[in-house]
Amino acid sequence: MCGIVGYIGNKKAAPILLEGLSALEYRGYDSAGIAVLENNKIITKKDKGRVSNLASIVTPCNLKGSIGIAHTRWATHGIPSMENSHPHLDNSSSFGVVHNGIIENYNDIKLFLIENGYNFLSQTDTEVIPNLIHYHFKNTVSNYQDKFLASVKSAVSELKGSYAIEVISPLFPDKIIVVRKDSPLVIGIANGENYIASDIPAILPYTKNFYFLDDNEFAVISKNTVKFYDNNLLEHKKETKLINWDASSAGKNGYDDYMLKEIYEQPDVIAETIKTRFSMPNNNYFDNLDFSKEYLESLNNIYIVACGTAMHAGLVGKNVIENLCRIPVEVDIASEFRYRNPIVNDKTLCIYISQSGETADTIAALKLAKSKGAKTLAISNVFGSSITREADYTIYTHAGPEIAVASTKAYSAQVILITIFAMYLAEVLGTISSEDISKLKLEITELPKKLETILNDTTQIKKFAKIVCTEKDMFFLGRNIDYCTALEGSLKLKEISYIHSEAYASGELKHGPIALIENGITVIGIITNPELVEKSLSNIQEVITRGAKTLVITNQSLPNNNIDNIIKIPETHPLLAPILSIIPLQLLSYYIAKSKELDVDKPRNLAKSVTVE
Ligand code: M6R
Repeated sequence: MCGIVGYIGNKKAAPILLEGLSALEYRGYDSAGIAVLENNKIITKKDKGRVSNLASIVTPCNLKGSIGIAHTRWATHGIPSMENSHPHLDNSSSFGVVHNGIIENYNDIKLFLIENGYNFLSQTDTEVIPNLIHYHFKNTVSNYQDKFLASVKSAVSELKGSYAIEVISPLFPDKIIVVRKDSPLVIGIANGENYIASDIPAILPYTKNFYFLDDNEFAVISKNTVKFYDNNLLEHKKETKLINWDASSAGKNGYDDYMLKEIYEQPDVIAETIKTRFSMPNNNYFDNLDFSKEYLESLNNIYIVACGTAMHAGLVGKNVIENLCRIPVEVDIASEFRYRNPIVNDKTLCIYISQSGETADTIAALKLAKSKGAKTLAISNVFGSSITREADYTIYTHAGPEIAVASTKAYSAQVILITIFAMYLAEVLGTISSEDISKLKLEITELPKKLETILNDTTQIKKFAKIVCTEKDMFFLGRNIDYCTALEGSLKLKEISYIHSEAYASGELKHGPIALIENGITVIGIITNPELVEKSLSNIQEVITRGAKTLVITNQSLPNNNIDNIIKIPETHPLLAPILSIIPLQLLSYYIAKSKELDVDKPRNLAKSVTVE
């Protein structure tokens, strides 16, 4: 939520900042702005609207400054407007700030500053920060060697909430100061220049060497050095991490949209995950996990906690773990888990799934479980992300950067990874025979080819998308593991095509929602479990009888029985079916959104990384 970029070096900062903002636009896109240091002044350009709009304002100005900060906004306090766009300056224009996060006590700080003669131009929480830095610079900080850093530190000590902040000042024209708490920030190191961003892809074209800033850690960045300080301003050293993502993997590679590209990357993503896990020494799958049989047997239950699509991957994980390991698994929405006093102790294993690794609710839910004595395992796609630093253990999905707001390839990677994790648990516990493991492994290795088969023929999906793109409501039905797919298919549809939809466990429909089924309404069924075919078909018949238009996605040979459209996908092990059955649904949402000429990659009101509650 909100993306920030920074540059310090010898090149013109503005084009680099604009490019970084474009790459980060998935984090928020209702307004954007940059500030550069030029002729001993902070020059600010900002407006509501997309980064392309900002570029049309900035480019003709030919800004020459080689130090700058930038921001793309997802509005929290104050409507999208020029005044509310970042960067924000203090009243004397001595400090320029961009901020990702929320300052919860901004009202109190604002009142204090107003009493001390400061004025405010925006409705944002952020504007208190540069003014508070200025207040401390003038009034409280005296005996520190570096007055700039000390003033930032004094201001930040008063902030409650979450923040990743960049600060520049014409009084200190050779440095940028950054600090974070509960919002992400990375620093990219290059030769004679340094880059700052909320997320790796924004600066991947310039470097693969990154520092990951910790909570309450400050960095003073000049073009040749980066110095780190703790909360007491004691300097310390930090190691860089090499991120081997290919810069082109953060581009569109000829596809119209990131989402389509990411859908088509799924065979490779799954193949890569399988290769990495199945080539570990001693068939171990995860070299950093050391769960003993005694520990696993002592568990009362497992929680899987996540949000949105990641939570749906968790639901699939529940089915697989319970089937293979016979341990009860509860899946919870992170924002609920954290406030419902969950029964968690040292006999609970808590698994947290997060593509970004920065989702505020998921991180808070993890911290809660840790404080109650549970072991925590993170499943994340982003190396060094906050969740991976909080969890006792982390296993990574190797999906590469996911840019489209609607998650597709990260979901598949989460599902396959948690499936392999379930196999690992089952083998340690001895709840699966070696024969069954071999069968499952064989089926898993065949998944990438089967995914390609689905992706190679999208004619039926495109046709159906055209037929239903003007609808207002749809239903998704599935039983057991197919219900998870129904939920995820329904979320994809809502997110990018703005069509209201509901996902129901097929057998539950008759307990109420069937009242909504009327002539012409679209119902999409997912039927992959051979043992539940007949029951699922009966539920489809119930809606056909009431006039529904139907699409069924299946790997079974179904009698037509008046179903309007059947999309056949390859057969696989029932526990692996979600990895294949979700593909037609991802494509359906995509093509419906395209038919409606919507911005697929940046759906309204959403942001890729939800770093606020
Ligand atoms: O980064 P995370 O996996 O923690 O994100 C969780 C959800 O915000 C995310 O999956 C969201 O639901 C997506 N927009 C779904 O497409």
